Amino acid sequence: MSLPPGFLEELRTRISLTDVVGRKVMWDTRKSNPGKGDMWAPCPFHQEKTASFHVDDRKGFYYCFGCHAKGDAISFVRETENVGFMEAVEIIAREAGMPVPKRDPVAQAKSDRRTQLAEVMEQAVQFFRLQLKTANAAQAREYLAGRGLSEAAQDRWEIGFAPNGRQGVFAHLTGKGIDAELVIDAGLAARPDDGRDPYDRFRDRIIFPIRDARGRAIALGGRAMDPNARAKYLNSPETELFDKGRSLYNLGPAREAAGKGVPLIVAEGYMDVIALVEAGFQSCVAPLGTAITESQLQMMWRVSPEPLIALDGDRAGLQAAMRLIDLALPQLEAGQSLRFALMPEGQDPDDVLKSHGRATMQGFLDKALPMVQLLWQRETDGGIYDSPERKAALDKNLRAAISTIKDVSIRGHYGEAIKQMRWELFSPKRASQDKGPWKKGAWKEKPAPVQPSTKSSLLGNAGQGAEEHLREAVILATLVMNPKILADFESALERMDFRSHEHRLVRDCILRIGAAEDLHERIEMTAGAELAAVLAPRHVQISPAVRAPGDAKIAAMCVAEELAKLDAKRGVLREIDDAMEDIDGLVDEGLTWRLSQAAEAVNRAERSESKDAAVFDTAPNGAQLDRGERDALARLMGQIEQKSDDQSKK
Ligand code: UTP
Ligand code: MN
Repeated sequence: MSLPPGFLEELRTRISLTDVVGRKVMWDTRKSNPGKGDMWAPCPFHQEKTASFHVDDRKGFYYCFGCHAKGDAISFVRETENVGFMEAVEIIAREAGMPVPKRDPVAQAKSDRRTQLAEVMEQAVQFFRLQLKTANAAQAREYLAGRGLSEAAQDRWEIGFAPNGRQGVFAHLTGKGIDAELVIDAGLAARPDDGRDPYDRFRDRIIFPIRDARGRAIALGGRAMDPNARAKYLNSPETELFDKGRSLYNLGPAREAAGKGVPLIVAEGYMDVIALVEAGFQSCVAPLGTAITESQLQMMWRVSPEPLIALDGDRAGLQAAMRLIDLALPQLEAGQSLRFALMPEGQDPDDVLKSHGRATMQGFLDKALPMVQLLWQRETDGGIYDSPERKAALDKNLRAAISTIKDVSIRGHYGEAIKQMRWELFSPKRASQDKGPWKKGAWKEKPAPVQPSTKSSLLGNAGQGAEEHLREAVILATLVMNPKILADFESALERMDFRSHEHRLVRDCILRIGAAEDLHERIEMTAGAELAAVLAPRHVQISPAVRAPGDAKIAAMCVAEELAKLDAKRGVLREIDDAMEDIDGLVDEGLTWRLSQAAEAVNRAERSESKDAAVFDTAPNGAQLDRGERDALARLMGQIEQKSDDQSKK
């Protein structure tokens, strides 16, 4: 939309921001000075009793010292009237008695077309809702009831049902005279390549309408009821109406609630949003099946200065949170940040509400970690900092992360906070205090930082990370000692999320140097200390392909097994499947089962470690080894060896 040159400037000089804002607030007469255009009021963007919202009428700007909302008359109307830029301009121009400029024809046509598509979408939404009430939808209603959604809730969320036919909504809409192309362009139907009739995209699915901030229907989410369905959720394709990366589920209502001071919660799925809102957490949004994008982040910040991120309590959810940190750091501004509410292992907010109820959920939200703490956790997780070089490497990583923060003052505060946490980690008193800020994590207990005296016994400090840390080490060591098999695992290695700095470093060396015969020696030259740490654990040394390198099949099998176990734990790599197929048939289910049993034993041992009853052995280096852990891991490794012996006999 183009406006005549100078139009906005003229508009700004003609209107008084005090007038525009004055319709939405009660001025604090004692604090305000109308003569100077210096006006104060309780902020319309957040709940407060004091007047921290300031209007500078002469400059035409407002700023809230509480929630940091800021802008001019146009942004004020946009935010408070929930309208777009042009509409805001029109509203203000009308009030100022200025002729509202005609929209340019291209923009007008585009907006007409969007309006048309949105109307088609709206009719589809109503069609699907009606379908849910028919005899056809008995199973769908049962499913929804089974998930605890009352009929009232189904109505509130406008939930529908797409019957299982080729042409349900398509026939309905075209039957009402709507052009077939519009139905297709709205993403409701698709035309097969072979020229046959268009068919419905959503069949035999529960339908969740997706609306934009202004309430227009722009897309649908469809959930399969059959647990074996190919895709659990099928969402509308990208259309002229629907830009996935720029939409958030439930944005309009969430914004309205946030305007009343309710904190904004960001969850992963439709069902999480619905469950949260139904439980009374009114301001809640979710991305639409993709990782959170920069524009979604900006949208969230426009709703609330400190959204609470409540992603699923699994590896994928945690990884999404970590990615979000990288996305958010460069964008931080004063009073604009994120907090992370960590859900218990394996649960999403919907699960938490179902199994534990509202109060427990509130507890997790209350315990949400500030972003700086999660950043710290990410950079230190599983690491051992017993030498100046390693400490320096940690500092370097943290500095790199912090340096992406553009806001100077925030960068300074992050530096301070990190310094404090760093001091606690490296302080010699640390061991006896045993409570750092990261200990508060509701979702998982971080293993206590490893002290030099016990460095070679990761098990001596077995937290949840120890097992994963060892598996990573076995993978890296096997690859270093058997460079021939590298080609099969390169992409898996590239995608792996290592727990510690030195593991990442060794991985990077492996990838950089590639399948050179003297890979081992060359890494030793550049990252000797790190490689030594990888090779040091006994479990790595007794691993067959490390102890006796050279047999490519055995080595590949070892790596594949460890990857598979890590994958099971973390839900990461699809490439593993490919790698596994390459080493066809080497990994059988029986072995996988035995490994999982052994891993369970390790977990049990880890749990018992905290109890006094655990029996300790003293390792040659003086470290304490829980006997349960030692036995379980010995068994685990024994099985791997057994398996490879069997294989090599074949
Ligand atoms: P989840 O699988 O966590 O969804 O995926 P959920 O809401 O907890 O699912 P329920 O409770 O089993 O019904 C999170 C989001 O990722 C998208 C959807 O938007 C979903 O809400 N998704 C998931 C897809 O787009 N496709 C899928 O196959 C799965
Ligand atoms: Mn989920």
